[in-house]
Amino acid sequence: MSRFRVAGPDDPSTCAIEPGVPVEEREVHVLPAEMYTFRAPDLSAFQGSVSGMAGHLLFIFNLTREMRAQHVVEIGFGEANSALAFLLALRETGGTLTSVDLERRPQAEERISELGLSEQWRFIEAPSETAAAEVRRLTPIDILMIDGLHSYKQCRLDYFRYAPWVRSGGYVLFHDSRTIMGVRDFTQQLLERGLGGVQLDYCNGLFVFQKCDDVIW
Ligand SMILES: C[S@@+](CC[C@H](N)C(=O)[O-])C[C@H]1O[C@@H](n2cnc3c(N)ncnc32)[C@H](O)[C@@H]1O
Repeated sequence: MSRFRVAGPDDPSTCAIEPGVPVEEREVHVLPAEMYTFRAPDLSAFQGSVSGMAGHLLFIFNLTREMRAQHVVEIGFGEANSALAFLLALRETGGTLTSVDLERRPQAEERISELGLSEQWRFIEAPSETAAAEVRRLTPIDILMIDGLHSYKQCRLDYFRYAPWVRSGGYVLFHDSRTIMGVRDFTQQLLERGLGGVQLDYCNGLFVFQKCDDVIW
């Protein structure tokens, strides 16, 4: 753990300040030790892509890698941006990504095959509501990304259909949790339940929820 002396309580870098210690003697943990193991994947996979997911790719990659995820499920394959970040990490962990989407997108699939990641990828072409039964027959989910239809109702349905299959200690991520009302309202409700969760406010928002003790609501 790196420790740095800080100038005072208004210093923007302050976090985890030791309580009960005079301000001038306080030390602050600027980065948790684990952060030093964070690194960038080969970003050439994302060259030229324009996506609201852009700012979350490194987080997704590192979360997947750090927790040695074996099974990631994403609802909403789209242009394969989140898929590539998951798959690059899953190549290292030996895990699999299951993407659920209403339709196939050959150009997006090409991005996966060009990187030699097809063997770790499964695609279910179906609405998330019907794909849920198939996903339940697979291994438990380490990370669930909800990024399909962004209405409040669908976001809620996706959560309740899939979150029970996320293992305890696993994560549920919601993209667009700041900019799209339905997702924002549902994730806000989840937060108000007091189960934890963090709203990352950049790049349209990413709500990060860690499932503990099998409680989802
Ligand atoms: C915002 S895009 C996903 C972006 C993708 N995660 C990425 O990073 O490129 C949303 C996707 O959800 C899909 N979708 C919408 N409604 C859905 C549903 N009910 N079931 C499954 N997929 C759905 C759309 O076809 C679209 O490809």
